[in-house]
Amino acid sequence: MSNVFSIAIDGPAGAGKSTMAKALAKALGAMYLDTGAMYRAFGLFMLRKGAVNDAAAVAKCVEDVDIAVRFVDGAQRLYLSGEDVTDAIRVPEVSMAASTVSAVPQVRERMVALQRKIAEGQNVVMDGRDIGTKVLPNATLKIYLTASAEERARRRCKELEEKGKAEPYEQVLRDMIQRDYQDTHRAASPLQPAEDAVHVDTSDLTIEESVALMKKMADEAIGKH
Ligand code: DC
Repeated sequence: MSNVFSIAIDGPAGAGKSTMAKALAKALGAMYLDTGAMYRAFGLFMLRKGAVNDAAAVAKCVEDVDIAVRFVDGAQRLYLSGEDVTDAIRVPEVSMAASTVSAVPQVRERMVALQRKIAEGQNVVMDGRDIGTKVLPNATLKIYLTASAEERARRRCKELEEKGKAEPYEQVLRDMIQRDYQDTHRAASPLQPAEDAVHVDTSDLTIEESVALMKKMADEAIGKH
């Protein structure tokens, strides 16, 4: 029995994790932590060094990179050595870099430690790839969110377009499939559903329907714990 609850949301890129986790956290009055943003910030750091694919350099750099997560007016912002990189990390090049550096065990160790520290003692909704399996193994509720690759690529295209950073659908789909492959095939904490995760396929659900379903599951799980 604990008086705080934690909700773990995992799944592949574009399944709607951040949109839905954010809305769920708001509905539950909990903190929302987007863990992918932390890997993205470090991916950007390594991109700028031109060493994303150099695993030894990645492992060395993660030891003392200055990554900070702050909440400004309730919204999560990411800082690299004091520079606000919240917007700079939302481009396809950084998505791929984040996926690549996240396969290095030392990177995962540091990020998981940071994530646990940020969430300590708080009601939290956290999303990522290894939340239910690694970061919060005792989470009150674990949800594995999926949607077809085509639907996820369509959503990501729309998101990029709204930001004025449109990319061709075929390219987005290709990148998504490659990133899924990298994230599920790495040796260290690959993306996989926790044994006790509830699977939710959002392909045919609106955001509102998905959030309502997750809120119902969360209320039930919190009521029992
Ligand atoms: O959720 P996202 O697309 O912002 O994540 C970017 C990359 O970071 C993703 O391709 C894999 C990695 N990641 C991870 O390995 N573990 C997490 N908990 C979150 C993200």
